[in-house]
Amino acid sequence: LTPRIGFCYFLIIKGAINMVSINFEGAKQFYASQPDKAAAQAAFDTLVNGTGAGNDFIGWVDLPVNYDREEFARIQAAAKKIQSDSKALVVIGIGGSYLGARAVIELLKSPNYNALPKNTPDIYFAGNGISSDAVTEILAMIGDRDFSVNVISKSGTTTEPAIAFRIFKAALEKKYGVDGAKSRIYATTDKARGALKTLASREGYESFVVPDNVGGRYSVLTAVGLLPIACCGIDIEALMHGAQAEREDTLKRGVESASVQYAMSRQALYADGKNIEILAAYEPAFRFMAEWWKQLYGESEGKNGIGIFPASVEYNADLHSMGQYIQDGPRTLMETVVSFEQPQNEFTVPFAMGDPDRLNYLAGRKLSDISRMAQEAVKAAHIAGGVPNLEVRVPKRDEAGFAWLVCFFELACAISGYMSGVNPFDQPGVEAYKKNMFSLLGKPEAN
Ligand code: PA5
Repeated sequence: LTPRIGFCYFLIIKGAINMVSINFEGAKQFYASQPDKAAAQAAFDTLVNGTGAGNDFIGWVDLPVNYDREEFARIQAAAKKIQSDSKALVVIGIGGSYLGARAVIELLKSPNYNALPKNTPDIYFAGNGISSDAVTEILAMIGDRDFSVNVISKSGTTTEPAIAFRIFKAALEKKYGVDGAKSRIYATTDKARGALKTLASREGYESFVVPDNVGGRYSVLTAVGLLPIACCGIDIEALMHGAQAEREDTLKRGVESASVQYAMSRQALYADGKNIEILAAYEPAFRFMAEWWKQLYGESEGKNGIGIFPASVEYNADLHSMGQYIQDGPRTLMETVVSFEQPQNEFTVPFAMGDPDRLNYLAGRKLSDISRMAQEAVKAAHIAGGVPNLEVRVPKRDEAGFAWLVCFFELACAISGYMSGVNPFDQPGVEAYKKNMFSLLGKPEAN
């Protein structure tokens, strides 16, 4: 990794542009001591030079410039085939094999993507739980329409998606026969290991690889995210270009980059007792982006008895529920607000004769302007109430904007993790429940 990153670093020095911008003004007054630039520099060097804990899982840093072009073309071809022969795609996966794809589809298309008029397949997410009601509902929503399945599991052995895959594979076989089903199953897994890989090779499923050196929560820019994303008609080439730009900007500017500044700032706030970070956005479409972010930061930093607890809120809705706690509860919170400078669509408040609801003072004003005022008001109130505020701004809710955010948050997460002295790429804690569950279920190897 070291020479490769070094090489790219020199290539991009000239072309740096600030894609994600960050504003710390609302946080500065809360630092117990100034953000530790030297520690941030050391963490940055550790990541870039590949000398830290978990350094066999930093392949995601290079992904935007170093992805498999042949596989990328196969992903695009598979997406076209699914678009042409299926009205629905069931995406089976959990954690890092699920959240990224859902985040980008909701952010760039809509949380209501399935219900909106379109000429791309509906997407149903399965295997992220063990709910018989959820499975039944998905089967009912597919009905007698043509569908395909993308089963995603890096290890190929995770129980929740494996159960869902059995169910949807059986449904495919019932509808299309055993051979017909095979041509509608797309497997994204390890290149050599795991039960899913064995099955995919035996049955001849079209397969895509989760690279060895990319962990689940850092994998959205691999086939894990790209195939479902491409099926929805999102431009995955534009995604990769956006990711390249943000990556290059961070590598070039180092401690002056938005990613490193964010890592530094949240660590300074953590040192001051702000051990909960709430990620807020004013777009309902951001909800699953926040879920993706929570996994990224929670699994990367919450270990060895330390770590900032990642939570999320959706404004304005949560101003009328969590707002009370944020304004007035224990002062252990920091707030990071992600905003998009331009909406995808503009709307103005209509004029009403006689002003029956006393709202004509807003008539003719854009909702985006009103929302901006709300954001300013919330920011001032929360800072006054003792909640440090970090603002993350992206110009637009588009492919580039999403990719910039992904790179920004991933790089910041790794650097923040190294600053706090943990391995940001492992997740030993998630094994505990599995051990108990397997034992209760009587899994043969568990006893
Ligand atoms: O980030 C991670 O590594 C996890 O969330 C995994 O992605 C999740 O447990 C699913 O694992 P797998 O892809 O092996 O089925």
